[in-house]
Amino acid sequence: MNKKSVKDVEVRGKRVFVRCDFNVPMKDGVITSDKRIAAAIPTIQYLLENGAKVILASHMGKPHNIFTEGFGLTKKEKKAVEKLPEAEREAAKAEYLAKAAGDRKKLTLAPVAARLNEYLGNKVTFATDIIGEDAKAKTAALKEGEAVLLENVRFDAREEKNGADFAEALASMADLFVNDAFGTAHRAHASTEGISHYIPAVSGFLIDKEITFMGGALEKPEHPFVAILGGAKVSDKIGVITNLIDKVDTIIIGGAMAYTFIKARGGKIGTSLCEDDKMELALSLVEKAKEKGVNFLLPVDNKCATAFDNDAESLICDIDAVPDGYMGMDIGPKTIELYASAVKDAKTVIWNGPMGVSEFDNYAAGTRAVAEAVAQSDAISIVGGGDSTAAIEKLGYADKISHISTGGGASLEFLEGQELPGIACLEDK
Ligand code: 3PG
Repeated sequence: MNKKSVKDVEVRGKRVFVRCDFNVPMKDGVITSDKRIAAAIPTIQYLLENGAKVILASHMGKPHNIFTEGFGLTKKEKKAVEKLPEAEREAAKAEYLAKAAGDRKKLTLAPVAARLNEYLGNKVTFATDIIGEDAKAKTAALKEGEAVLLENVRFDAREEKNGADFAEALASMADLFVNDAFGTAHRAHASTEGISHYIPAVSGFLIDKEITFMGGALEKPEHPFVAILGGAKVSDKIGVITNLIDKVDTIIIGGAMAYTFIKARGGKIGTSLCEDDKMELALSLVEKAKEKGVNFLLPVDNKCATAFDNDAESLICDIDAVPDGYMGMDIGPKTIELYASAVKDAKTVIWNGPMGVSEFDNYAAGTRAVAEAVAQSDAISIVGGGDSTAAIEKLGYADKISHISTGGGASLEFLEGQELPGIACLEDK
């Protein structure tokens, strides 16, 4: 993938529309982690220092939006509402509008503008709409080296529908589109893809870095290449396993998804999570790995408990002999040793997904041990997914990882080998 970046085009004096992923976690109007904001700063800083007039845009959450006919309802919801007697229909609309109004308060980007100003030294103003009067006035007034942040683009339903008129209106405010929203690059929305039909489109430094590391691992990995995949469901990782089987030397499976493989193999898994309808597929993945000479590692032991509770009674047993009434909660000590030694001599490691219920202290040992093994290896290491990233950060290993991806769904789709619309739409070098 060889996409143009901000460094390949002239930005001085230009109005540059930068799509970021400022979809940060918030509690009671306060940002609880600003990692995604920090990750966008290098591109914004570069543009400001090089005399661009910067228009920043992002979504936040999934607001009810009020600009569509049908008040943003899905077709099914709309039909159901239309069948209601008039009075109830009006009440349903009123309820929807009240939710939308509530979301406008909860999901405004105003706190993000304030945080950006802490990073950038008060260079950012905030527009209270997206393509309305305030946005138009503030973008028109921009001087070189100044920025404006538009309100949450998802407050307009045409954003997620990739509405051409909305995309064109966004484009009309700018001369250049810079996509730096890796976390949203798997969405073909108006501000992530549609806008590129009207003005030249290039990547920001964050997308560039994500492509360099993840694309590099997929296209030209150094071997041995080890992929560690965890999480609750096999169905979430099928695409990734299928794509990686052709590229890696070892696949390591952890988390609850391991039990679908174990049960399919005839093991006793107690009350552990299992996707019965995916057992056949699980066996075929193991078979495919064998054919390709890929080392496919499943847990050999686990820590299981009588309830999904940090303090429930627990024991350690072989992975295929979980007693009745017990559910698997974490990989066991023998598995930790096996997995750590598989990672030790790797030259490339990709890790996505926890090894157990890592949010419970008593079942976080497996995820912690994998975090430690990845951090200590000399491999090019790429970590994605909320729980894996949290484990790395909690242990203070972030600076020992070559690349921590800022994308959730986007990273997975990238690792599945899918083309992400927010990247595909950028100009080739
Ligand atoms: C994310 O948090 O994964 C991105 O911001 C994308 O958000 P979305 O799933 O609401 O599109």
